[in-house]
Amino acid sequence: ALRKAVIAGNWKMNKTRPEAKALIEDLKPLVANAACDVVICVPYTNLETALDLTKGTNIKVGAENCHWAASGAFTAEISAGMLTEMGVEYVIIGHSERRQYFGETDVTVNKRVRAALDAGMKVILCVGELLEQREQGITEEICGLQTKIALQGVTKEELKNIIIAYEPVWAIGTGKTATSDQANEVNGTIRSVVEKLYDKAAADALTVQYGGSMNAANAEELLGKEHVDGGLIGGASLKAPDFAAIVAAA
Ligand code: G3H
Repeated sequence: ALRKAVIAGNWKMNKTRPEAKALIEDLKPLVANAACDVVICVPYTNLETALDLTKGTNIKVGAENCHWAASGAFTAEISAGMLTEMGVEYVIIGHSERRQYFGETDVTVNKRVRAALDAGMKVILCVGELLEQREQGITEEICGLQTKIALQGVTKEELKNIIIAYEPVWAIGTGKTATSDQANEVNGTIRSVVEKLYDKAAADALTVQYGGSMNAANAEELLGKEHVDGGLIGGASLKAPDFAAIVAAA
């Protein structure tokens, strides 16, 4: 990759507080000399623990979602302002699991992106095609469309606070990784969509991650590609040595 990489863990619905504490304590020394940016996105219940334990370290903390409203009658939701008040810097928005299991749409993703940016957060925006869409040959259109809708109303200045994570849905948690060429191709397409929306400088500066069964064994190959500027790591972020090995490869 040509840009400084960002390696982000997405813990999903894993780790109690004692488990989170143990993982972060193990991780700290292993990633202390990282050449890339290191982020851990953790369940809401672990945010305070993660913020406390990473104080003064190079590990940044993120949430896994946020709501678009500032407050109100939205049972179980969390606003971006609630996160920034705690000191949470990053938030994942539009993860395919939110889209698949919780009715998230391109339109609600766009609204959440808006709220996160307004609160001053850095957004990890996820896009990616389903297996049948890849088989139909519409991967580039799907990822392009998801990107365009999610970025509606986002200014060039605000784009600096956005990372896009390309996550082919068929590669998530399946052990089936996209080849480095497949990842590079779609990441490059996303970058060219962003270039059309903004300009070349904005597109060149954009961090585009790959996610989907990235692990210690395949990270170096994926991260070696021009358009792969980091990773969004699920399963392999749950064990300190595995996550640290990916960080070391970046
Ligand atoms: O957000 C992370 C991705 O969904 C990848 O998950 O590394 O377990 O395939 P995975």
